[in-house]
Amino acid sequence: VRNMSSGKSKVFVTRNDMPKCGLDLLNKECDVSYWDEPSPAPRQELLKRVAGTNAIYCALSDKIDRELLDAAGPQLKVVSTISVGYDHVDVAECKKRGIRIGYTPDVLTDATAELTLALLLCTSRRLTEAIHEAKTGGWVSWAPTWMTGPGLAGATVGIVGFGRIGQAVGRRVKAFNTAKILYFNRSEKAEAKEIGAEKVSFDELLQKSDFVICTAALVPETKEIFNKAAFAKMKNTAVFVNTSRGGTVDQDALIEALQNNVIWGAGLDVTTPEPLPLDSPLFRLKNCVVLPHIGSAAIEARDTMSILTAQNILAALNGKDMPAELK
Ligand code: DGY
Repeated sequence: VRNMSSGKSKVFVTRNDMPKCGLDLLNKECDVSYWDEPSPAPRQELLKRVAGTNAIYCALSDKIDRELLDAAGPQLKVVSTISVGYDHVDVAECKKRGIRIGYTPDVLTDATAELTLALLLCTSRRLTEAIHEAKTGGWVSWAPTWMTGPGLAGATVGIVGFGRIGQAVGRRVKAFNTAKILYFNRSEKAEAKEIGAEKVSFDELLQKSDFVICTAALVPETKEIFNKAAFAKMKNTAVFVNTSRGGTVDQDALIEALQNNVIWGAGLDVTTPEPLPLDSPLFRLKNCVVLPHIGSAAIEARDTMSILTAQNILAALNGKDMPAELK
């Protein structure tokens, strides 16, 4: 299954702009081919290019399903994604075929938590609106009630999904002198004690929180948990922030909630679909901030993610323990 001429394993990288430090590692040992554009390969191209490879270095925009695994062939040993989320990978199908899966937990936790706080404050303190007003003549004088929004000090913050990223958000939020941190998670988290976070039901979190932050992985149980009923339970002064996956939200219900002031505002780093079509009502709503999925986009984080993605591939190809294998 090695490249006949070079004797090296074949790795396919699904775009040509993955951080170089990871690719350099692969290039030392493997025969690396790329989709030659800085954008995801169209599906048909992807299916063609993966054929005969031993490893795939992919991103969250690449759907790794049965069809793709069939197209790759039985010599495929490992799929390594440059992301902590793996909802784009059919894990069960990979397991069935003995294909190992690499991902990038931990190394993007700080970056994603930082962005979550940035997005929260950008939304609550209306930064995009304010910058626009300053540049376009809306800034007539200092005004006592103009551009005001809910403060974080003294607020109750609810975090849905209290894994690595949720906890990192909790630690940061605490520094803003919040009154209370609530979390909703399948299991109780030992770290909650040190953070001062209290486990509550989903409904209680929605009812009591001034800020509701979603950092939950997208799994069947979290699909569209933020639906019409959930928004109706939230305070009409609440700010909703999502830095996990767009699929955790019923987006039509969110649009309706924002249009009818069922909630105060929303900050979204993730949407359905991505990229969000330009004609989406979310782009026209003043009480909504949309970012283009940049949670982990700190330079250091992306470099480390690329290195880890490559290290996962090299370990799997050599039959060794992977530094971050999805078990
Ligand atoms: C992830 O890693 O899953 C993020 O969504 C992108 O970094």
